Amino acid sequence: MDNDQDFRKQLSRITSDLAWTRPDGRKAFVPGLKLSDFGDPEFCREHRLRLPYMAGAMAHGIASVDLVVALADEGMLGSYGAAGLPLERVAADLDALKTRLGSKTFAVNFIHSPQEPVLEQKLAQLLIDKDVRLVEASAFMRLSKALVYYRVKGLRRNEAGVIEARHHIIAKVSRVEVARQFWAPPPPTMLDQLLKEGLITAEERQLAAKIPMAVDLTVEADSGGHTDNRPLVTLMPQMLALKEQMEADHAWPMRLRVGAAGGIATPHAVLAAFAMGAAYIVTGTINQACVESGTSAAVREMLAETQQGDIMMAPAADMFEMGVKVQVLKRGTMFAMRAQRLYELYRQYASLEQIPEKDRQVLEDTVFRQSLDEAWQSTDAYFQVRDPQQMERAARDPKHKMSLLFRSYLGQASHWATQGHPERRIDYQIWCGPAMPAFNDWVRGSCLQAPAERRAVSVAWNLLYHAAVLQRLQLAALQGRFLAAQEDLLRPLTDAALQECLQGAL
Ligand SMILES: Cc1cc2nc3c(=O)[nH]c(=O)nc-3n(C[C@H](O)[C@H](O)[C@H](O)COP(=O)(O)O)c2cc1C
Repeated sequence: MDNDQDFRKQLSRITSDLAWTRPDGRKAFVPGLKLSDFGDPEFCREHRLRLPYMAGAMAHGIASVDLVVALADEGMLGSYGAAGLPLERVAADLDALKTRLGSKTFAVNFIHSPQEPVLEQKLAQLLIDKDVRLVEASAFMRLSKALVYYRVKGLRRNEAGVIEARHHIIAKVSRVEVARQFWAPPPPTMLDQLLKEGLITAEERQLAAKIPMAVDLTVEADSGGHTDNRPLVTLMPQMLALKEQMEADHAWPMRLRVGAAGGIATPHAVLAAFAMGAAYIVTGTINQACVESGTSAAVREMLAETQQGDIMMAPAADMFEMGVKVQVLKRGTMFAMRAQRLYELYRQYASLEQIPEKDRQVLEDTVFRQSLDEAWQSTDAYFQVRDPQQMERAARDPKHKMSLLFRSYLGQASHWATQGHPERRIDYQIWCGPAMPAFNDWVRGSCLQAPAERRAVSVAWNLLYHAAVLQRLQLAALQGRFLAAQEDLLRPLTDAALQECLQGAL
């Protein structure tokens, strides 16, 4: 074991045990590892996965059918990005997923739309009708009746008397008060209402009181898109403590599980998440940069060039009036600045008419590229179809009219990006977190640097494999064996090289 070169080689053969005697006579040992040793094995067993790795949903189908299928084929979990898509498109994509995946596991995003309960109920019904067994529930501050309906429908006792759920939820939250609701039974008032409406049976109502809304809960730290910008190192211990408290308070027969999301884009972050006790990890932004994602090649190239300092918070289209923000790419697009200017004008003035001429001119020349009256006509046409009530309110309330018009720019800016409109490149809204620059730095000069080479599965395997190598490096260091130039051992490998390293390690 004196030869560094040999030791390095042995460390990267992750399934082999390493043993040596330290200079002071103590025994040192680094155990062989399989990638499936990470996390909570029950997560993989219950969801029929090979690896505790999940790609979180990305709205507008950015987490595409292709992305979900690529991961599912290798025993990992993808969450289809249903948010912001018309239900007919979601229905067609669910059919495609079922056809391509058969019985393999996948998830679908169940996004909370507090302003549109009818839409949420339709989504729940679609998921039930299409027999989707697993959803990733996000953006919830309070549980909704539609989500409770999804969870409870189909509950039954099997022959052994054990309660079996047909529908499972992976909740994604960043606040403990929301986590508390997911790890508790569904609220009785909602259950009573569902029973009264004939949506659930008396037996389902009764069994629902005995199960948690979700067993799996992803803690989301500073991420791309909607985020509270909190660090994982502070959130994770709080959620793990809450988990144990909820297990004890409700005497749940199963172990609840905490997954980790936000900033996971390097072997270091993967290992840190598992070391803190994550049952599984969730990646996001980095999958948008992969070839399977449902965005444009132009966006993938911009993401591949992202460096530290190239991201910022900008007003969100969905909760614009409340001042809610999303994390986006700053480099190469004016979106964040323009959206921020729109928000300032919205705060400052009571109506579009009050906006001073020079500001109005700037909006017409740069942001809307047409007169505000023309822009309003297309906004009107959009909402007449999607939600006519908004138009009635806009007719009464000029500030609401301003909000709808400004939100139309924010909304279109994501579509221009995903569709790669060249003439609107300067306005692309690209959700992106600090994970992206961290990933780009890690893969620089490697086989994963070029956007065309970034495949979601290669990225996932590289992350997990190198987290295992890093784990072994750390264990060796803890036992007095430090290696210089460790980064060399953590450089991404091609699929062919990885296949060899992963023999027996999956
Ligand atoms: C482009 C993009 C779109 C996203 N859209 C959604 C969404 O519609 N629903 C959701 O639950 N999470 C969404 N997320 C969050 C991801 O699922 C994931 O939780 C998050 O990106 C993980 O953090 P990271 O970006 O630091 O990897 C989105 C993230 C990105 C980057």
